[in-house]
Amino acid sequence: MKLQQILRRAKKEGWAIGQFNFSTLEQLRGIVLAAKERRAPLILGTSQNEASFFGLAEAVALKRILEKTAKVPLFLHLDHGRDLDFIKKAIEAGYDSVHFDGSDLPFEKNIGLLRKLVLAAKRKNVLVEGELGFLRGESRFVPLEKIETEEGDFTNPKEVKEFVRKSGVKSLAVSIGNVHGIYQKMPKLDFDRLARIRKETSVFLVLHGGSGLSADDFKKAIMGGINKINLNTELRVLWKEKMKKSLNDSSRVKPYEILPEIIVETKKLVEKYLKIFGTSTKV
Ligand code: G3H
Ligand code: ZN
Repeated sequence: MKLQQILRRAKKEGWAIGQFNFSTLEQLRGIVLAAKERRAPLILGTSQNEASFFGLAEAVALKRILEKTAKVPLFLHLDHGRDLDFIKKAIEAGYDSVHFDGSDLPFEKNIGLLRKLVLAAKRKNVLVEGELGFLRGESRFVPLEKIETEEGDFTNPKEVKEFVRKSGVKSLAVSIGNVHGIYQKMPKLDFDRLARIRKETSVFLVLHGGSGLSADDFKKAIMGGINKINLNTELRVLWKEKMKKSLNDSSRVKPYEILPEIIVETKKLVEKYLKIFGTSTKV
């Protein structure tokens, strides 16, 4: 099954597919176990750094093996690709979809590079996600830091039509007050802006910066036209906390005794979000 088909269905039926990032095997296994248990299609995300660490070929091979055992559609996505050569390597390696993050580039430059990628991805039928508007922060936990978005960061609905038409993207990441990471102040999403963006285009809409948002925010965002939601920081924080706790017990040295708790807890966290996103029991 292709990701486009699932996204089309999600759009029609009013739910969203979750993208959960990983950079370790136990995170990956926890995420996939959640998909299997909840009978939910899901996207496995790796940022450019995560993919470099894990290995593109390794991620593709494991995704294929795990998909067979989980018996649910899994998709591998390159998240926040900034380097076209690296993104093309991911396509060649067998990724199902790729994100070009040209959000800090001038409008025309962002479109130009995205257009090149769309043409390159076409041969392999790989879905390309573009980004219009700027997202602050990074996927880390900084509870004491405030992060303020500025009006100029947000996706301008008036630019959406031209951006989609000229670039040829089928999926668009938007900036509507969402930020990467978890901060002291919860971000306030601009649902009115989302509605105006939705009016301008029929391509799939993506919400980055899922960590730290409320269930209510997610539900409103999905009702407002979001079809895909990205989550990373909460998985990273959980991995670190569980690892710290397990390593504190100095009597344990066997990785196969230390790591299972991370898998179980990751699974629980992902299951919680699959329920909120409405993705459970969709396959
Ligand atoms: O691309 C990844 C997501 O946007 C992750 O955002 O770390 O705030 O969950 P997050
Ligand atoms: Zn993101």
